[in-house]
Amino acid sequence: MYTPEEISGIVRQYMASLVFPPHPRELFAPIEYSLEEGGKRLRPTLLLMACNLFSEQPREALPAAAAVEVFHNFTLLHDDIMDNADVRRGKPSVHRRWGANAAILSGDAMMIYAYTLLGQCDPKLLPALLETFNRMAMEVCEGQQYDMDFESREQVSVDEYLNMIRLKTSALLSGSVALGAMIGGADGESLDKLDRFATQLGLAFQLQDDLLDTYGDEKTLGKAIGGDILEGKKTFLMIRALELAAPAQQETLKKTAGDASLTTTEKILRVRAVYDRLGIARLTREAIARHTAAAIEALDALRLPEERTAPLHVLATGLLERAK
Ligand code: IPE
Ligand code: IPE
Ligand code: MG
Ligand code: MG
Ligand code: MG
Repeated sequence: MYTPEEISGIVRQYMASLVFPPHPRELFAPIEYSLEEGGKRLRPTLLLMACNLFSEQPREALPAAAAVEVFHNFTLLHDDIMDNADVRRGKPSVHRRWGANAAILSGDAMMIYAYTLLGQCDPKLLPALLETFNRMAMEVCEGQQYDMDFESREQVSVDEYLNMIRLKTSALLSGSVALGAMIGGADGESLDKLDRFATQLGLAFQLQDDLLDTYGDEKTLGKAIGGDILEGKKTFLMIRALELAAPAQQETLKKTAGDASLTTTEKILRVRAVYDRLGIARLTREAIARHTAAAIEALDALRLPEERTAPLHVLATGLLERAK
């Protein structure tokens, strides 16, 4: 059994050992920049911890762990173009620094590299791992499309939103956990419980991401505050606010982002003032706590010795307090 600190050290060391060809510089420099230290490494950590539930050799899962982390970072390169996001991890996003074309192509190369890493897994397991990886990857694309579709829709239900984030965010967490558990030798029933664990954890994680986008501290978060408001994103905050708003507040929520007479700061403050009046932050925190509790319940349903699931417990509850 490895402690969370040991797992995290193993992940960091392996990620730091990945090397890229020197040329063409414009292709590989953005990849190195994106994979530098700075991210939380959540997905590879989950993958190794899930493997370690069933196997004493979680290092065997390292290529798969790196594959999901590289894939995740690839999605961020394209996501920042799609979301007009200028800052990531406290630095200019790749498309701001190298341009959109570079971010698209380096992103493509990262996806290919993710499959190269996955190809280093045990050949006996590879067909099953590949099927899981592909399903996960396609779901992320589906979720990202819904996320964009919803920008131009006036009404989105909480259920539609939850389905969208299940695809764009939970899929990568549940895929990571499934890959790790499969490499560790988990049975089908355990895989089902872990799928519920990671899906619920992913919902809590994206709700928290939405909350931090409006209420976080820019420096700690490393992303610009208010991006979701400016882009017209149908976050949990916006959807619940639209449900609860009086007619004048509805008007503010719907019209502010597109009001050319306002500065970006004014837009963010106006929408946030409506959220404040409606108690949206508290409602979001309650939803985060509910999904985290559902995740923990699924983890406990595995009926493994407590010390085996402890690292995943610590990770899941720790995410409740995250500020980045
Ligand atoms: C950002 O993921 C994208 C979301 C699904 C919210 P993370 O918050 O895990 O990003 P890093 O890798 O830690 O920067
Ligand atoms: C991103 O969601 C999900 C994926 C990249 C697949 P967000 O767009 O909310 O993530 P951030 O806030 O930019 O990290
Ligand atoms: Mg984004
Ligand atoms: Mg996005
Ligand atoms: Mg976000």
